[in-house]
Amino acid sequence: MGLIDVVNLSKAFGPKVVLSGVNLSVEEGESLVVLGGSGTGKTVLLRNIMGLLTPDSGHVAVEGKIISRLSRDELFQVRQSIGMCFQMAALFDSMTVFENVAFGLRRHQKMTEGQVTARVEECLSLVGMRGTDKLKPAELSGGMKRRVGFARAIALKPKILLFDEPTTGLDPVMTDVIGKVILDLKHELGVTTITITHDLKSAFIIADRIALLFRGECIACQTPEVFRENPHPVVQQFLRGDADGPFLQDPPPPKHKEALA
Ligand SMILES: Nc1ncnc2c1ncn2[C@@H]1O[C@H](COP(=O)(O)OP(=O)(O)OP(=O)(O)O)[C@@H](O)[C@H]1O
Ligand SMILES: [Mg+2]
Repeated sequence: MGLIDVVNLSKAFGPKVVLSGVNLSVEEGESLVVLGGSGTGKTVLLRNIMGLLTPDSGHVAVEGKIISRLSRDELFQVRQSIGMCFQMAALFDSMTVFENVAFGLRRHQKMTEGQVTARVEECLSLVGMRGTDKLKPAELSGGMKRRVGFARAIALKPKILLFDEPTTGLDPVMTDVIGKVILDLKHELGVTTITITHDLKSAFIIADRIALLFRGECIACQTPEVFRENPHPVVQQFLRGDADGPFLQDPPPPKHKEALA
């Protein structure tokens, strides 16, 4: 049993099958990177881990607790141990950086204002954003916003950090910086991380293991070195970033009943 176990996880929206039997296990302290084309269900996977979506079949377990079977209070407890860094940071635009990072602390913990301030400063400094407390999100660059989002996610001292495309839309230098911030957080805080990314360079920097989602399944989950040499045509196409290959081809049409008869 890992810290997070995804077992035969399936999820469809109406006729659209997104995940069909995903299996993944993340050990405590490990950094897993999940790769996959746009629309392959990476965010849906994270939302199942957070209990924001319910699986059609299969399950997600965090520390052995099956998320979809928890009561509201139990789910709230588990969510306290997970920090989520959403796609595009998702900060509150009307609040300052300080208020954004303090938000969860004020909501969930009985802390004095002095303790809140100390914790916010500590988190901003961990992501290299000290001194930005009074700024509003509109005054920040994309990379700075992401880092404030990280500071907000680590404020409650989670055991698990989930990053949904933390570098999309950033320049290569900032992409590198964000990758290193994630690595630092892992080392400084000893957290277990799942990072979804399109960026191969940061994937290879961050990952202890790399998983690839393709047509609803996890077709590889291995160390970066092994993944790089994986002969699977989809893995190789993804690594090369080629337009030609199985990755962009339509899935085979479902077999017609008569044809099966
Ligand atoms: N709540 C929902 N209702 C209906 N369809 C949904 C819902 N959430 C996701 N989907 C569909 O599920 C598919 C996978 O979505 P998801 O957001 O997980 O993709 P993704 O792999 O994160 O893509 P991207 O890399 O573009 O972020 C998409 O086709 C999307 O339209
Ligand atoms: Mg997504």
